[in-house]
Amino acid sequence: MKAIGLLKYLPIENEESLMDIELKKPVPQGKDLLVQINAISINPVDVKVRSPKALTEKEPRMLGWDASGVVVEVGEDCKVFKVGDEVYYAGSITRPGTYSEYHLVDERIVGKKPTALTHAESAALPLTAITAWEAMFERLAIDPTNKEGNQLKKVLIIGGAGGVGSIAIQLAKWAGLHVIATASREETISWVRNLGADDVINHHGSLKEQLAQIHIEQVDYILCFNNMDHHWKGMGEVIRPQGKICSIVENKEPIDLNVLKSKSATFVWEFMFTRSMYQTEDMINQHLLLNEISKLIDAGELKTTMNKKLSPINAATIRKAHALVETGNTIGKIVIENF
Ligand SMILES: NC(=O)c1ccc[n+]([C@@H]2O[C@H](COP(=O)([O-])OP(=O)(O)OC[C@H]3O[C@@H](n4cnc5c(N)ncnc54)[C@H](OP(=O)(O)O)[C@@H]3O)[C@@H](O)[C@H]2O)c1
Repeated sequence: MKAIGLLKYLPIENEESLMDIELKKPVPQGKDLLVQINAISINPVDVKVRSPKALTEKEPRMLGWDASGVVVEVGEDCKVFKVGDEVYYAGSITRPGTYSEYHLVDERIVGKKPTALTHAESAALPLTAITAWEAMFERLAIDPTNKEGNQLKKVLIIGGAGGVGSIAIQLAKWAGLHVIATASREETISWVRNLGADDVINHHGSLKEQLAQIHIEQVDYILCFNNMDHHWKGMGEVIRPQGKICSIVENKEPIDLNVLKSKSATFVWEFMFTRSMYQTEDMINQHLLLNEISKLIDAGELKTTMNKKLSPINAATIRKAHALVETGNTIGKIVIENF
């Protein structure tokens, strides 16, 4: 089968940073599905894992944690999916990624692909939708069925036009919340407004001052999708007493949790690979939530976040997509379709 792998961790301009290779088609066992991949999407995690370092691999390493495709074989313990099912998923950071024609994935973290979307449109979603869903409805414990109660609550989404922000805005609106998204450019401001953001402020300015300008003193929830170090102080200033902050990005400098003490505010992490990495007992929740996302898409409640589509899936195209994601200012998701 065709695959795209690396042996060395090199700058993306180097043709050896990601190479076209041929590998044997894997055989599924246990709870694994063998999926024939139609489309993938590129995330910042792909770029972070590939970042230049003095490490070499003995066997080619495949990156990629988003795919949409068709089940072609199943392991002996599979109960959820069968051959022929159309699926979408992010996979596990501890296993080979989705830059290959055929791919093994545990069925407990796989969802039924939305029928209303193409494979390319579907591949834009899994990693970011799992992240946004877990952050809001599990870590921050927002109840999406309490739409009336949620209307009284405000969420600040820092990094609104990115891959995660683009689906988080839609999920927050679906749950009934008042959404304030951050965006810093004309294109990203209109992108977040189109996705449903009620208010938009700029993440390069003071959160407190800009919220005051739109007569908002405090917010009930904050989702930090970018630059924790820069936003930590500002988040502490605008979180409501007893409010909750969830971050998906690590801090590089030490952070002072005492900032939240007098407000009894909660801080919580979200890492969407936790369940697959630690094989938690509730791994199946990712299957269930991806199915919920599919239903919401098919019901017209959510839309794809795909904003750029490239083809075919090969080393040259993936290198091009990595270079774009490395800029840190892409809007929505970049998808690559067809081997
Ligand atoms: N923990 C997890 O499970 C998890 C899951 C997914 C992603 N992540 C991480 O979360 C981050 C975001 O992922 P993503 O896919 O949404 O990224 P992305 O698509 O690359 O985000 C791009 C967006 O970031 C915005 N941005 C740039 N600088 C910013 C700043 N200082 N403050 C706020 N926003 C800023 C830009 O908006 P403007 O152009 O308007 O400035 C741009 O639209 C990445 O670091 C990723 O690795 C973590």
